[in-house]
Amino acid sequence: MPDPVQVSLAISEAAKDASPLPVPTPTKAARKPRPAKAAVPSPAGPAQSEPAPTESAAPKAKPAPRKPKAPAAAPATPEVAQEEARPEPAAEPVPPEVPADAPTPPLSSEATLDPRDADTFAIRLERYRADLEGSLRSVYGAEQLVALWPRLEALLRRALAERPADLRRLDEARLLRPDWLQVPEMIGYVAYADRFAGTLEGVGEHLNYLEELGVKYLHLMPLLKPRVGENDGGYAVQDYRAVREDLGSMADLKALASRLRRRGISLELDLVMNHVAQEHGWAVRARAGEQKYRDYFLMFENRDLPDLYERTLPEIFPDFAPGNFTWNDEAQRWVWTTFNSYQWDLNWANPEVFLEFVDIILYLANQGVEIFRLDAIAFIWKRMWTDSQNQPEVHDLTRALRACARIVAPAVAFKAEAIVAPGDLIAYLGRRDHHGKVSDMAYHNSLMVQLWSSLASGNTRLFEQALSAFAPKPTNTTWGMYVRCHDDIGWAISDHDAGMAGTTGPGHRAFLSDFYSGEWPGSFARGQVFQANPRTGDRRISGTAASLAGLEAAQTEEDIDLALRRLRLLHAVTLGYGGVPLIYMGDELALLNDERYLDVPEHAQDNRWLHRPAMDWHKAEERFDVATSSGRMYAALQRLIRARRQLPHLHASIEAQIVPSPNEHTLLFRRDHPLGSMLAMYNFSPEFQPLPAPLLRAIVGDYPRDALSGHEWNLTNPEVALEPYGAYWLIEQTR
Ligand code: GLC
Repeated sequence: MPDPVQVSLAISEAAKDASPLPVPTPTKAARKPRPAKAAVPSPAGPAQSEPAPTESAAPKAKPAPRKPKAPAAAPATPEVAQEEARPEPAAEPVPPEVPADAPTPPLSSEATLDPRDADTFAIRLERYRADLEGSLRSVYGAEQLVALWPRLEALLRRALAERPADLRRLDEARLLRPDWLQVPEMIGYVAYADRFAGTLEGVGEHLNYLEELGVKYLHLMPLLKPRVGENDGGYAVQDYRAVREDLGSMADLKALASRLRRRGISLELDLVMNHVAQEHGWAVRARAGEQKYRDYFLMFENRDLPDLYERTLPEIFPDFAPGNFTWNDEAQRWVWTTFNSYQWDLNWANPEVFLEFVDIILYLANQGVEIFRLDAIAFIWKRMWTDSQNQPEVHDLTRALRACARIVAPAVAFKAEAIVAPGDLIAYLGRRDHHGKVSDMAYHNSLMVQLWSSLASGNTRLFEQALSAFAPKPTNTTWGMYVRCHDDIGWAISDHDAGMAGTTGPGHRAFLSDFYSGEWPGSFARGQVFQANPRTGDRRISGTAASLAGLEAAQTEEDIDLALRRLRLLHAVTLGYGGVPLIYMGDELALLNDERYLDVPEHAQDNRWLHRPAMDWHKAEERFDVATSSGRMYAALQRLIRARRQLPHLHASIEAQIVPSPNEHTLLFRRDHPLGSMLAMYNFSPEFQPLPAPLLRAIVGDYPRDALSGHEWNLTNPEVALEPYGAYWLIEQTR
């Protein structure tokens, strides 16, 4: 992902004098103040301003030829712009053959609910009606809402009628335990099914391994049927109702979900919302000229609007997919493609797209998916003169989708994958009237970035600065905490925070890229630069946690020891913060970078595969051998997990607060639980670091217990010392 801070800074410059325009789409997208009561149609009025005069930006380096501009291209008023973008009906629409994998479009079929279900439906609809209607009205306007509503209701009824009995039981259980994602026992594990165990059935054979680690939730990386060939690690989905064939079938997925459930492990899948593969049935039909499906995408006859949009859009993959639009010969249109050219962005301003996704979510929920990772959610709404990320409609749409899920499948939770600037992130857990009504969880990207930043600099000032700027999250939500994931690390560090911490944004970001690519003299890291962008200076980083933390470069026993201490420190922060720790497959065994991706043609261009190694079951067998690095890593992680599970203080409803530390190498967090306080202390330097005991004593009393070592501490002395890369969870002992 790009560095959201840099991107947003660049955008704010460009957007200074411009008011946002609505996305030019066939549907009305004007936002209106939300009336207090139910669906009463009222005309939606455009609130638009004039765009800058058309002037062609540099052509994008897409392989396609640039189309000549339409004759007499009117310097568009917004209304004209909207007209222009409206996909024209093809002269003679050729009805394509419906591909075998085309989605079933049963959007209007009614289902009769038995009296008990009808009652359940009525109660839940009553509960969520205001959320649903309010959000849909905001996004689509009152008129569209009225047209949409009966179809939506029919769809929800049908999904409820089809909800299997065991999942209904889970729904009931979750309604009684709404904090199920927030409890300290919640430990996540993230794996590629094929790289972990070959197939879905294979995954089912390794459940003891997961259980032994304490895993309560399993995120299986994209496994819905992707396009053949390059597919961005599965994030180019061709069919949301089929499983990648080499992994198994939908029946296998359902069976695995229920096996996991019996062990108390929740299954998470990716829901790719921003785009589909160009081979998806919708895109196939759009290309062939079917107007209904053209309206599912953002297509443009000429470069006028794309050029205007490009002025403020970032490039996500500047190396291998520059620009945001791709020319398609068959459709004779430019197609919006934020990511790769084969990933076609969806037009969420079209309520049909919303209905399709409600249907997909409920279909998958009824197969047993409990958590949806809302992939690239920040991008789903486009607006002229902005970076087309984090737009208010994104949150309205999430609130509406969540309300639908709560009505049919209250066991289901949403996790937002919004790798955005800190100031934008909190909105994914809900602000103002969306408070606690959007995603249940969001990745804490900022904290992850700060972990690596402090590890490189040995200094925690920036970490403190960045984290203390975070607004508290809604008490019914949680953070997804992670050291590493399948993506690169982008240095989302704002110039302001860097300045406050005594450095500069560009300088520090450049240092981090140098450090983690191993270019910095004396660096212990062995990562690689991903998507260097000379325009912004961005250089993101690929590499496994172990390789970035020094294990790959380690020459001596002492180096190995230091690398393992660093890894333990990073995991301790993520496990001790109060969100859901998401352990990335292989990190429990400190797996190193794997260069073999270079031999796979469809991966070779993308060095994120460096940190997506296959599970090393040989190392896994050695996990109890503490003479090995893997064994030491595993033991350390298991200990952290066990300690975490015993600590009510780590319930996510309690906020972690930064305690400004007098020692710039150390980081202190306090969590104040009714049972007593917890103080987490971390040393990011390779030397012992002193801290004044009275500061700590004021939080956890004279004799706290360290939940990690089990030792009681005496804080009546004037000073304490933290070990090199030491981690401590001090718990106030209330006698
Ligand atoms: C998310 C995924 C990333 C993918 C992108 C496009 O950011 O984590 O791997 O490339 O979405 O779907």
